[in-house]
Amino acid sequence: MEIKITKNTAPKAKVPANELRFGTTFTDHMFIMKHDSENGWHDAQIVPYGPISLEPSAMVFHYAQEIFEGLKAYRTKEDGEIFLFRPEKNFERMNLSCDRMCIPRFDGEQVLDALEQLIKLDASWIPTAPGTSLYIRPFIIATDRQVGVHPSHEYLFIIILSPVGSYFKEGLKPVKIYVETEYTRAARGGTGMAKCGGNYAASLIGQQKAEKLQYSQVLWLDGQEHKYVEEVGAMNVFFKINGTIVTPSLDGSILPGITRRSVIELLRHKGYTVEERLLHIDELMEAANSGALEEAWGTGTAAVISPIGELNREGNICVINNNAIGPVSQMLYDELTGIQWGLKDDPFGWRRIVK
Ligand code: PLP
Ligand code: COI
Repeated sequence: MEIKITKNTAPKAKVPANELRFGTTFTDHMFIMKHDSENGWHDAQIVPYGPISLEPSAMVFHYAQEIFEGLKAYRTKEDGEIFLFRPEKNFERMNLSCDRMCIPRFDGEQVLDALEQLIKLDASWIPTAPGTSLYIRPFIIATDRQVGVHPSHEYLFIIILSPVGSYFKEGLKPVKIYVETEYTRAARGGTGMAKCGGNYAASLIGQQKAEKLQYSQVLWLDGQEHKYVEEVGAMNVFFKINGTIVTPSLDGSILPGITRRSVIELLRHKGYTVEERLLHIDELMEAANSGALEEAWGTGTAAVISPIGELNREGNICVINNNAIGPVSQMLYDELTGIQWGLKDDPFGWRRIVK
């Protein structure tokens, strides 16, 4: 793919690593590509990061035809190698999100190549302090200028980059999770398995409620019966119950997390039994009350491995592992970040060097 590059002649000052708040600082450049019915995906460019101009009638503003991804680039020293973690999986998932949202597919290899060019141009923005990385946000928006409901013909594909530290203010300290029994985020047959903005819009009210009660995130239950555990706002969930690791199966309303898949592969490789199955909230709360629930954690690109220290379901509060990070969560954090930051062997071939 031919990419026209226009360099930023007024680069910004960098934010010191200890002042990075998740997703608030952006680098000097972005990738942008257009789609229309005549030309397909075309006009790929890397340009200075900045505002884009859209008409108020652009479809994305009205019917939320939009999808996005989240992945990271890692580097532990300036001028050191830059790694991506299974980036091809993000572009595969993005194409699945395209299918669900009636957005035309794109060539994942070509976009990955464009991403690597963008990262190289903004490489000085990749933070190197422990726990930091460059968060990558590809997204596609529908830009047809009319307010009739239909799949758009015109789109923009954009990638922006953001140097980040920890997603949760707690860092690796366990987070408190509120079990939401009133609202739902997604339902089977809906868009839960796609990474589209609408899912997150639907989740805001639950998140707001949880935060008012001093909880970091929401644990969502299934949309039909409010009985089965699905996922947390920005991560998939795992529970160690009587020695077995259980994670909700992918039944269409859960995001198929790349960290989730990697953690399952890592755990099985280390000899743990992992069950992907329906997990009833009663079973989980009983296990938590009886002490059979030994550990719980979330997995995600932004959240990495995030231990869960407390669950609150309608006032039934269960503290997990004395609100401390457990040995499996710690092992997973060390193994996963060791691979991501290039500090450990990569037996699964998950790392991709940006050349
Ligand atoms: N579930 C939701 C709702 C998410 O937003 C994310 C983050 O991307 C995840 C799960 C974890 O997915 P991944 O591990 O691919 O980042
Ligand atoms: C991610 O982990 O990439 C996410 O998308 C989570 C959140 C920032 C929405």
